[in-house]
Amino acid sequence: MAGKNGAIKLVAGNSNPPLAQGIADYLKMPLAKAVVKRFADEEIFVEIQENVRGADCFIIQSTSYPANDHLMELLIIIDALRRSSASRITAVIPYFGYARQDRKPGPRTPISSKLVANLITRAGADRVLTLDLHAGQIQGFFDIPTDNLYASPVMVRDIRERIPLDNIMVVSPDVGGVVRARGRAKRINAPLAIIDKRRERAGESEVMNVIGDVAGYTCVLVDDIVDSGGTLMNAADALLKNGAKDVYAYISHGVLSNAAATRIAKSKLKELVITDSIQPTKDVLAAGNIRILPIASLIGEAIGRTAKEESVSSLFD
Ligand code: R5P
Repeated sequence: MAGKNGAIKLVAGNSNPPLAQGIADYLKMPLAKAVVKRFADEEIFVEIQENVRGADCFIIQSTSYPANDHLMELLIIIDALRRSSASRITAVIPYFGYARQDRKPGPRTPISSKLVANLITRAGADRVLTLDLHAGQIQGFFDIPTDNLYASPVMVRDIRERIPLDNIMVVSPDVGGVVRARGRAKRINAPLAIIDKRRERAGESEVMNVIGDVAGYTCVLVDDIVDSGGTLMNAADALLKNGAKDVYAYISHGVLSNAAATRIAKSKLKELVITDSIQPTKDVLAAGNIRILPIASLIGEAIGRTAKEESVSSLFD
């Protein structure tokens, strides 16, 4: 298959092989033959085992757990492709780890997402394709074209199919997520509530104030990342205490570190719906109330359009 910048080549890192295969299946093309392996001391070695000279290369790699290993793999694959005379290299990063470190939280701290953006650019990527960035402005950390896709259409379709729309309230689990949640609420024509977390005094526990009357509603929490699950489960508890009927959550990236999936399985949350931007662990697959929406066709379509120099934003009109 060829686009406007040469033959398309899909190269998979080790972060999420099933997603890479799903994207290849959508595009009806094979993954490029490549070896990404470790030396005994854990150094990463990459060998692209087919000709990519003049090719339009897309590397599929989330910088998910173990974040540093997967980031390093991505950088080394970019380097291998650059030195193999690829015509264009796009880093397809369905989950961009380090995104939460997008500002200085205090004096003498780094802005690590800017550093990671610099590393990817300096390694030789020409473009970035990612999904639901923690903050849209992170696109500006890359001095190369960066497309930020949205899982929203996939999630909205699922919400419409699964939950009766006449009694839904979309909820942002914190003030920082209001814009994201408002967008989702608009798409399904639902009202919006916000959880305002406050710690009145140092050492006291956080108080969860629910802004909006959620009593009797089926609440749908919307967020970009679920990691420890703390934000999510506290929000679910607060909503149920305020009279919500049921609480669902639609969250793009299931980081779900440590025992988060097991805790969520035991929580009062009716269902957590995530995408497969991060390869689900056994615990995630075993949790009775976590469901995964495949994202391969969305990413595959965006790759196809990028290769053909067609609009990607019109996917979300
Ligand atoms: C924070 O700004 C993010 O949008 C998520 O709310 C946060 O990363 C979730 O983390 P956790 O699941 O550990 O509470």
